Amino acid sequence: MIRKMRHSDLKQVLEIEERSFKVPWTIKQYEYEMYDNPYASLWVLENNGTVIGYYDLWIIFENAELANIAVDTVYRNQGYGQHLMDHMQQQAANRGCENISLEVRVSNQPAIRLYEKNDFFTVSLRKDYYKDEDGYRMMKGI
Ligand SMILES: CC(C)(COP(=O)(O)OP(=O)(O)OC[C@H]1O[C@@H](n2cnc3c(N)ncnc32)[C@H](O)[C@@H]1OP(=O)(O)O)[C@@H](O)C(=O)NCCC(=O)NCCS
Repeated sequence: MIRKMRHSDLKQVLEIEERSFKVPWTIKQYEYEMYDNPYASLWVLENNGTVIGYYDLWIIFENAELANIAVDTVYRNQGYGQHLMDHMQQQAANRGCENISLEVRVSNQPAIRLYEKNDFFTVSLRKDYYKDEDGYRMMKGI
């Protein structure tokens, strides 16, 4: 089931962040996204109280931006990332967005493949976007 993220999910979400990213988001960043960022919507894919994955989508007028997406390590390569992508794209379409954009580390092959499979294309290379690495900006129209 995919539902809105709750504060009580954050313990599991932060553990998945630690396992998934070189620079994981902190609880303060998540609380900002949940309560103070009017453009953000956060969703979790959950099964019987276990968070399998999640994403954060910013909708800024007609532009959607995928700010974060992750699936916990033990659940990867089982289609959950695609399930989150389907839900995310449906959200953007329902809200009347014209395009979706995102940034990804140039070395992050699993994520790049997932985005390409969903018809995202690279629009620019962002030098040192991640301080220690370049990023690709990817987009798709909807
Ligand atoms: C990227 C991520 C969300 C994919 O989740 P997932 O549940 O493993 O993805 P799925 O099982 O739904 O796979 C969907 C597609 O993604 C691509 N993919 C996923 N894992 C891959 C891997 N290890 N190598 C290459 N492609 C991969 C493939 O195109 C795959 O389609 P296919 O199975 O038909 O080949 C997951 O690897 C993750 O959480 N990574 C760490 C966090 C992260 O990097 N997030 C992106 C930040 S920009």
